[in-house]
Amino acid sequence: MMTGRFITFEGGEGCGKSTQAARLADELRARGVEVVVTREPGGTRLAELIRSLLKDEREDPPCDRSELLLFLAARAQLVRNVIRPALAAGKWVVCDRFSDSTFAYQGYGRGLPLDALRLMNDFAVNGLSPDLTLLLDVRPEVALARMRRREEATNTSSDRIEQAGDGFHSRLRDGFARLAEAEPGRIKTIDANGSQDEVWCKVLAAVDAAFGATGSGRRL
Ligand SMILES: Nc1ncnc2c1ncn2[C@@H]1O[C@H](COP(=O)(O)OP(=O)(O)OP(=O)(O)O)[C@@H](O)[C@H]1O
Ligand SMILES: [Mg+2]
Repeated sequence: MMTGRFITFEGGEGCGKSTQAARLADELRARGVEVVVTREPGGTRLAELIRSLLKDEREDPPCDRSELLLFLAARAQLVRNVIRPALAAGKWVVCDRFSDSTFAYQGYGRGLPLDALRLMNDFAVNGLSPDLTLLLDVRPEVALARMRRREEATNTSSDRIEQAGDGFHSRLRDGFARLAEAEPGRIKTIDANGSQDEVWCKVLAAVDAAFGATGSGRRL
């Protein structure tokens, strides 16, 4: 039986991952593809609990290494219980963040050693890699403006990672760019500074270029 396709969205906060992931899922479903949309950290009961631990801002926040392990524990659970079964059943999986976020945030952002991160991540995902990764690249000021607007609209405030400061965010963006340079076949960088519709056109073009416009998984 044909296995499904695994597509991930990556990029810093406010670049539009969740917006475009939902749109891609809608489009694929309209084409008759069975789609599972999920997000990281999260997507299973245990992984969502881990997500809430990671977002807990009280007096004992995770140190860099325990943060990494919590992210990897959540990912292992998601891969084992959601992503692999869906792919094996021929479904397409659209995931909002995956391994590249670990390399960018914990590696380039926080400075943990990348070779160790790769080994540990590979253990957590048991060798699973996305077929296609869409890296939504936005200028920091554009992302910040979007996040501010979202906070005003939803009456929320930034979490721990969002408050990490300018130096962190530029290291993060550079880190994502280096990951994309290293794997140009899998990771497609999308200029995501434009409107939602403009970004969507680029996302769809990248997906169709990778898998063919029918959404059947076969190249035309
Ligand atoms: N191209 C765009 N132009 C303007 N606003 C956008 C665009 N894409 C998304 N937005 C808005 O910006 C905010 C951030 O978008 P979204 O939540 O999709 O980003 P995200 O990458 O998922 O962020 P996070 O990493 O924080 O989850 C949302 O309020 C969304 O409606
Ligand atoms: Mg999001």
